[in-house]
Amino acid sequence: MTKMAVLTGGGDCPGLNPAIRGCIMRSIDHGFETIGIQEGWKGLLNGMTQPLGLKEVEEIIDRGGTILGTSRTNPYKIEGGVDKVKENLKKLKIDALVVMGGEDTLGVANKLFKEGIKVVGVPKTMDNDLSSTDYTFGFDTSVTRAMDTASVLIDTGRSHRRIMILEVMGRHAGWVALYTGIASGADWTLIPEREPEIDKMCEELKKVHKIKKYGLVIVSEGTKIPGSEGGKEELDAFGHMILKKRGVGSQLAEIIEEKTGIETRVSVIGHMQRGGSPTLFDRILGLRVGVKAADLVAEGKFGQMAALKGNEIIGVFLDKAVGELKVVNDEWWKFAEIFFK
Ligand code: F6P
Repeated sequence: MTKMAVLTGGGDCPGLNPAIRGCIMRSIDHGFETIGIQEGWKGLLNGMTQPLGLKEVEEIIDRGGTILGTSRTNPYKIEGGVDKVKENLKKLKIDALVVMGGEDTLGVANKLFKEGIKVVGVPKTMDNDLSSTDYTFGFDTSVTRAMDTASVLIDTGRSHRRIMILEVMGRHAGWVALYTGIASGADWTLIPEREPEIDKMCEELKKVHKIKKYGLVIVSEGTKIPGSEGGKEELDAFGHMILKKRGVGSQLAEIIEEKTGIETRVSVIGHMQRGGSPTLFDRILGLRVGVKAADLVAEGKFGQMAALKGNEIIGVFLDKAVGELKVVNDEWWKFAEIFFK
């Protein structure tokens, strides 16, 4: 009998529990024995497991986060880490490993596959920046929350005749900010992929403020404001910036207030946009890619990831998926710019 383990790594996001549910429910059809690895790669380094069967996944469809726990541990950055992972897989008699994660977690999965481990990937990230899949679950829920937050900010901004800034997540890709801006009718949006046009933005804000008595700006946390230093940035185990000290929203508020003379306030949505119950879209997508992952294991299609292409769920090679980050392209940016008026 095939023994299949599931782990979730990297930042959590809504849709992970539906994906775990889909994977386990389908595994029952395939007759697999299943087990959960706790806290991502950290759990496999330390042999941390938990039961994961029908009972455990029965009531998790509407729960945010991941019942398995997660971490940003990178076994390739720990001395002897990869050997420890291999040793524990052997000890636990695991034949196949389903890895749910973003570019970093799946990058490790891909390396392990090349070293002979039977791995299948499931794409997850609220940033929606993973290649080879049209969407990742987590994105819809977190952008919906940011969109709702933006309309709350508009109410108070209009009352006080202020410019309101909403800083949203997204370290390297501006999809979260872009979609939030478009969907909330923001007057300007700033994303990491584009150099901010501060003067143009301020002129626009002065203009709309005269008409609407408020202005709304959405800024991605990963945006670099020219001339602003910001706090010192630390790197995580995958070499990516931890942006908690940058404070781009506050930097922007100061600049806007100075250049427009209009009172400006900033709100940072932060982790509030990453927790909570998944939307319909994320539940269905999570279930579908979870089911596909179990099917890929059954078919022996290791080194692949379950991906959304159009409205089909297909298997794609992990190697391709983790090769390059999917960032905002010109077409989408031009679409967003239509509404900067
Ligand atoms: O998982 C991606 C992400 O949500 C980014 O958008 C954000 O910059 C980062 O995680 C925050 O990470 P942490 O939860 O470790 O602070």
